[in-house]
Amino acid sequence: MSGERPRAGRVVRTLRVELGDRSYPIKLGVDTLAGVGTAIARCAPSNRALVVSVPPVSRRYGGVLQRSLRAAGYRVHRVLVPDGEATKNPRQLSKLWDELIRVGADRNTPVVALGGGMVGDLAGFAAASYLRGVPFIQIPTTILAMVDASIGGKVAVNLPQGKNLVGAFHQPRLVWIDTATLRSLPVRQRAAGFAEVVKAAAIWDSKFFERLERDAEGLLELDPKLLIPTLARACAIKAEVVSRDERETDLRQILNFGHTIAHAIEKLGRYRGLLHGEAVAIGMLVAARKSEQLGLSPAGTAERIRSLLLRFGLPSELPNHPRKAYLDALRVDKKMANSKIRFVALRGIGRAETVPLTPREILPASR
Ligand SMILES: NC(=O)c1ccc[n+]([C@@H]2O[C@H](COP(=O)([O-])OP(=O)(O)OC[C@H]3O[C@@H](n4cnc5c(N)ncnc54)[C@H](O)[C@@H]3O)[C@@H](O)[C@H]2O)c1
Ligand SMILES: [Zn+2]
Repeated sequence: MSGERPRAGRVVRTLRVELGDRSYPIKLGVDTLAGVGTAIARCAPSNRALVVSVPPVSRRYGGVLQRSLRAAGYRVHRVLVPDGEATKNPRQLSKLWDELIRVGADRNTPVVALGGGMVGDLAGFAAASYLRGVPFIQIPTTILAMVDASIGGKVAVNLPQGKNLVGAFHQPRLVWIDTATLRSLPVRQRAAGFAEVVKAAAIWDSKFFERLERDAEGLLELDPKLLIPTLARACAIKAEVVSRDERETDLRQILNFGHTIAHAIEKLGRYRGLLHGEAVAIGMLVAARKSEQLGLSPAGTAERIRSLLLRFGLPSELPNHPRKAYLDALRVDKKMANSKIRFVALRGIGRAETVPLTPREILPASR
């Protein structure tokens, strides 16, 4: 990693998600929001733009974004949706469609998501569906959204029957990461985001994992000279996996490392208990232990993951529900095929593969 302190106001890293004529850049920097309008004008020229955000984010960063868009020639329309995962629903989606019609959006009008993964998924689905698809820009403001949700084009809303049940693939034209926005992110949300960073390293890059082991505390404190290269590497891993398998037929499944169990934990907690990243942390640990038991990864792998997650302030214990409840929750996991789940196991730090396992095989009998 470079030892230079990144210069404020400038994009210091540009990555590309390679998807043929739908390829797009991910641009990282510190305090760069004032420059985003020009970048959007380059990839989504239009005379107007719709910005979608939530109050806690808009209050802090909406003004500078709006000025930047105006300076680049856009008339800016802003829609605030209520904060929280419950907002990612069809009713809010339909409100965004109403708003797009009301402001006279045409097929060139970009929808700009300013916020975490919730805003990105909701605004992205509005962009995917309005007029069968309008330009979409991601300005993620959580770590989770920066390294995960904003890359790869999956957009969706939740239904009462389950999360992300209605959605689409709609790639953004640009992902704009300004790490200065993370300073206002609550510490617990920060840590949860780092769970996905640890995931990226664990499935793909052992050297990166070693750097996380070296830098965990500095990263939690958002030290910019550590943060930018770390987020960039995590983004690059997601970008590479998505470029090779956009529609999750095969390789992209390894991004679900820790997620089979995480989804069960979230479901049993009725989505009000642990944060997604916290559930993923526990799920990764269970999966890593299972990988050792299966003889796929060397002894000590799970312990390395556990101690790194702990340093990020993440939990490691499965919430206390009966084993049967976990098994039931796993059985209706949507990734289940013929009663076996495509479980993501590690072959040591830095390599993952899927193994078909039944819920009983995944969850150890005694805990
Ligand atoms: N599309 C994908 O591939 C993908 C991948 C992973 C997760 N997701 C989705 O992402 C969502 C979770 O994303 P998330 O963890 O970012 O949650 P989130 O969007 O709900 O944000 C978490 C909280 O942080 C606040 N916040 C966001 N940025 C802030 C900032 N800079 N300063 C202060 N507060 C800030 C938000 O207002 C919210 O209260 C879920 O809906 C999940 O399904 C999608
Ligand atoms: Zn996740």
